[in-house]
Amino acid sequence: MAKKRILVTGGAGFLGSHLCERLLSEGCEVLCLDNFFTGSKENIVPFLDHSFFELIRHDVCVPLNVEVDEIYNLACPASPIHYQSDPVQTTKTSIHGAINMLSLAQTQSAKILQASTSEIYGDPEVHPQHEGYWGNVNPIGPRSCYDESKRCAETLFFDYRRQFGLPIKVARIFNTYGPRMHPQDGRVVSNFIVQALCGEPITIYGDGSQTRSFCYVDDLIDGLIRLMNSGPQFTGPVNLGNPVEFRILELAELVLKMTNSSSKLVFKPLPQDDPKQRKPNILLAQQELNWTPQINLEEGLDKTIHFFEKSLYFKSLNR
Ligand SMILES: NC(=O)c1ccc[n+]([C@@H]2O[C@H](COP(=O)([O-])OP(=O)(O)OC[C@H]3O[C@@H](n4cnc5c(N)ncnc54)[C@H](O)[C@@H]3O)[C@@H](O)[C@H]2O)c1
Repeated sequence: MAKKRILVTGGAGFLGSHLCERLLSEGCEVLCLDNFFTGSKENIVPFLDHSFFELIRHDVCVPLNVEVDEIYNLACPASPIHYQSDPVQTTKTSIHGAINMLSLAQTQSAKILQASTSEIYGDPEVHPQHEGYWGNVNPIGPRSCYDESKRCAETLFFDYRRQFGLPIKVARIFNTYGPRMHPQDGRVVSNFIVQALCGEPITIYGDGSQTRSFCYVDDLIDGLIRLMNSGPQFTGPVNLGNPVEFRILELAELVLKMTNSSSKLVFKPLPQDDPKQRKPNILLAQQELNWTPQINLEEGLDKTIHFFEKSLYFKSLNR
């Protein structure tokens, strides 16, 4: 039987590289597309020699024509530091990228999955967030380029389904962490680990009482693949995230303990529109995908700390 040919946009990024790795291990042929805005070749070096891995340097804002059976559309900077550094480009990436990839899926009769986000719920008034909640999003703030363009991408996916009958899948991804996160992108888990390992102060925004739930990358990738392989009637949107909730202060204390670090905690003002709480309701994913995260925070942090210890050590050798 011919191998499934799968396009992963944003394939050199944090989640994309794990997805490529997993799909290769399942015997698929993988086309990894990336413009390297936040992704890096280091993330995909281990697969460059693989006979069924192909790298395409390309911007999703530009139309593309390749033969594919499935598309995972992940291209988009995910951390506030990066997506706010060029907000117009962020909006273009989400919206033009979605249009180009949907139109490719249409011409190829391919199934397409969108990496949407819990940010589409904004600063939620409903807790935990379920897929029926429409969100509380500021349309004109500094985070809007990401939140609103991801919302519009969801609209485009559902319109392509209604108008053209395209097979779509939409995953709303909640905070995910793990090896290959960008060490300087300001996301809370990587931030705390790098600061703790370097003996720098741990920055806490606000008083640390705001909550987040953290999903380990392997669990998330498993959810994405289950969603892509789910029955044709199931489109999502479906929440994928770990529902166990932690206060940011608890996370900082756990990282300090696990890294044996003597870093001090410093408190800074909360950024504008920072959500106070975030926790997925994953009932739909449990029912439709038989998916529940398996890796607890300590286990996932252990693997992530190990990764950063190794990469910071090698970086210091190359200085
Ligand atoms: N990691 C999370 O916690 C999380 C949460 C919610 C949603 N998501 C979504 O998952 C996807 C992947 O996130 P990530 O954490 O791996 O982020 P990331 O920044 O590591 O990866 C994004 C990748 O997209 C590439 N990219 C950006 N703009 C592009 C463009 N115009 N053309 C081609 N490639 C482009 C980047 O170079 C990078 O490799 C994103 O769409 C993000 O919105 C992630």
